[in-house]
Amino acid sequence: MIRVNEHYAKLQSSYLFSEIAKRVKTYQAEHPAKKVIRLGIGDVTEPLPAACIAALHTAVDEMAARASFRGYGPEQGYDFLRQAIAQNDYQARGAQIDADEVFVSDGSKCDTANIQELFADKVTIAIPDPVYPVYVDTNVMAGRTGKAGKGRYKGLVYLDSTIENGFVPALPEQPVDLIYLCFPNNPTGATATREQLAAWVRYAQANKALILFDAAYEAFIRDPALPHSIYEIEGARDVAIEFRSFSKTAGFTGTRCAFTVVPKSVMAYTKKGEAVALHPLWNRRHTTKFNGVSYPIQRAAEAVYSPEGKAQTCALVDFYLGNAALIRSTLADLGFAMTGGENSPYIWVNVGKDSWKFFDKLLKRAQVVTTPGAGFGRCGQGFIRISAFNSRENVEEAMQRLRKVLK
Ligand code: MLT
Repeated sequence: MIRVNEHYAKLQSSYLFSEIAKRVKTYQAEHPAKKVIRLGIGDVTEPLPAACIAALHTAVDEMAARASFRGYGPEQGYDFLRQAIAQNDYQARGAQIDADEVFVSDGSKCDTANIQELFADKVTIAIPDPVYPVYVDTNVMAGRTGKAGKGRYKGLVYLDSTIENGFVPALPEQPVDLIYLCFPNNPTGATATREQLAAWVRYAQANKALILFDAAYEAFIRDPALPHSIYEIEGARDVAIEFRSFSKTAGFTGTRCAFTVVPKSVMAYTKKGEAVALHPLWNRRHTTKFNGVSYPIQRAAEAVYSPEGKAQTCALVDFYLGNAALIRSTLADLGFAMTGGENSPYIWVNVGKDSWKFFDKLLKRAQVVTTPGAGFGRCGQGFIRISAFNSRENVEEAMQRLRKVLK
């Protein structure tokens, strides 16, 4: 008898963004004449930077000629891209990361889920609340939690991110083994200072814990005092794995390219307490289960680091930050308190009411899609997340509609 993975039955609801898509689809089917503006899922709208497109065309032409055609590439990514990442994203910021510590992949969503394979079943996991739902749901699927009750899974240690702590959670009161952190944060848009990250690194060192640091939104940081990578913090090389993506940095949500950094010095421990390096394990996992990102896409990603690519991606991110500023000023005029939108594409708005009801109100009365904060965890109740990813025209129209509906 084939047994099913019964942990799936513990999942509380469908994946947040599928649930939103379902509600929007139902609304649109009932109101086909209404124009819906999507400020929900953080999906980019603007075309790829010209430098990436040029690189993509060249690479496609290479694939069309026998002499330059390429079949399977290295599973970990081509050296040209790993080198560009290590030099530009890390060494240029004083972080000691080598090219062979970078693993190119097709997305951070998959990597943050797949990395769990390297850890024992019974580890204590600390997860912020609110949080990107993938971290929680994939741990549920893997059987690392108990059942859900009152919106929380037994066995997880939740780190409350609230107005009081500026949405940067305090260190856990009990020992934990694995810690998920994301800054600039999805969904709150909050950022962490060097001192705050250093406290987490010290905690991980003292407890032989591991930090999974999601830095998918680092390109939105404009404040020069804020760290872009956890590896800018001394000692982090030994206790942290970092996830990065070209999705939001350079508009690759449809083309897929990301990377995970596993330093050679980062360790996990056997039952007896012997240290085991995670780099060879992740390399083994990656080479066994993944066949690499396509050559043209890796060339397009490499172009992000060319002088033109840097200027174009910076302009692209500035464009979305311009949308974020518009959303912030509109919501402030309407009397709402919020965080994010300054070094982040997400604006986390305190609506003081049930999140899903507020979401429905904005969908039905303004035809504007947002993301209900409660979908990110119990502490998200009373908030909505507005994404700055859309055209300027659509954001302007959406803000006019909010002014009418929320005045
Ligand atoms: C979000 O809206 O939270 C993100 O777009 C989801 C993702 O990157 O997978």
